[in-house]
Amino acid sequence: MTQENVLEALKNVTYPGFTKDIVTFGFVKDVVIDGQTVSLALDITSSADEVKAQLIEEGTKELQKLGFDNITINVQAPQAPKQMSNSVSGKNIAPHVKSFVMVSSGKGGVGKSTTSVNLAVAMAMQGKKVGLLDADIYGPNIPRMMGVNDQKPEIQGNKVQPLKAYGVEIMSMGSLMESGQSLIWRGSMIMKAIEQFLRDILWSELDVLVIDMPPGTGDAQLTLAQSVPVTAGITVTTPQEVSLDDSRRSLDMFQKLHIPTAGIIENMSGFICPSCDEESDIFGMGTTEPVAKEYDTEVIARIPIEPAIRVGGDTGMPITYHQPDSQTAKRYQEAASNLLIFIDKVNAEGGADNSAVQPTTPPGVSACSTPAPAKEAPKHEGCGCN
Ligand SMILES: Nc1ncnc2c1ncn2[C@@H]1O[C@H](COP(=O)(O)OP(=O)(O)O)[C@@H](O)[C@H]1O
Ligand SMILES: [Mg+2]
Repeated sequence: MTQENVLEALKNVTYPGFTKDIVTFGFVKDVVIDGQTVSLALDITSSADEVKAQLIEEGTKELQKLGFDNITINVQAPQAPKQMSNSVSGKNIAPHVKSFVMVSSGKGGVGKSTTSVNLAVAMAMQGKKVGLLDADIYGPNIPRMMGVNDQKPEIQGNKVQPLKAYGVEIMSMGSLMESGQSLIWRGSMIMKAIEQFLRDILWSELDVLVIDMPPGTGDAQLTLAQSVPVTAGITVTTPQEVSLDDSRRSLDMFQKLHIPTAGIIENMSGFICPSCDEESDIFGMGTTEPVAKEYDTEVIARIPIEPAIRVGGDTGMPITYHQPDSQTAKRYQEAASNLLIFIDKVNAEGGADNSAVQPTTPPGVSACSTPAPAKEAPKHEGCGCN
């Protein structure tokens, strides 16, 4: 019996809640075989006892089938997460949400909202309690993409009940305004809106809140990072160099805001022809890899240009839910699995911490105030920020 036989057998053990097996995930380590005796280590990302027990039981069964009669499986799970919500120096105004995912890009139109929708739906299909917050205040597209654009949320006192579709809780400025209305708001109002979306929406105890950001690196991103510890940042890009330049800014922002980077999604990467199913290169493909390396992260999915993705968005029928067997749906599911593993890892290591990005000015003092002038100094003109 060889190590290969053992690994082959363990490929029949899937990680609870996922479609991938423990060998593919790279969890199996230190396989030692001696006659009828085998021992190995499982280096998993979850500290839950049920997960450990299930993996030991299923792993043992598979190895018994190979004829081993002395089987030792040591599970090395991470330590239980440190207390991270409302930590001494960090801030979390939505502590009933376990993890926050910021979906970001340098540019508009690259597929942030499409990615947010399909990742949220995929995680819900994998059994997670998921919310989807449309933080693109000026261009809210989530209600249409989730098929709830003609629904109005219920108001309870001064709180708002989220809408729900495909097992995902949803909130968007688009659901709170008449359709077609525009907002002309100062940065400070955007900041207030983001805070209210986190504090005044009656989100359930969610495993993950996916947040679809406006393009760029501005007030909305900063406010979000200061209000809750963002567990994972995802950058969406298209493969052209001009889009990649903007993605670098987005990845740089994650670093500056102390947001752990889960990876990059290369969207509109190649074209799958609906009639012949062949994949061709339109915007380029694979150009994102070097950028990922530069920022010490990875490309977690390549999503092709596919008419069905656009149709799914326009009709409120996400491809991941409605065509689960399509190549694209499988890629979104895989990206969602990778994201969940990343989140588990960040939380197991103590969780995200936003204490380093809190405003440093004392309460009541604007960040652009200058120090109080000396007694005889000429009157300060103000910095024009309010
Ligand atoms: N991979 C794709 N294939 C085909 N159409 C796509 C794809 N990704 C996004 N789209 C379409 O492109 C448009 C812009 O995507 P969207 O998600 O709204 O971008 P963003 O939120 O970054 O502005 C939408 O009409 C969407 O349906
Ligand atoms: Mg969008």
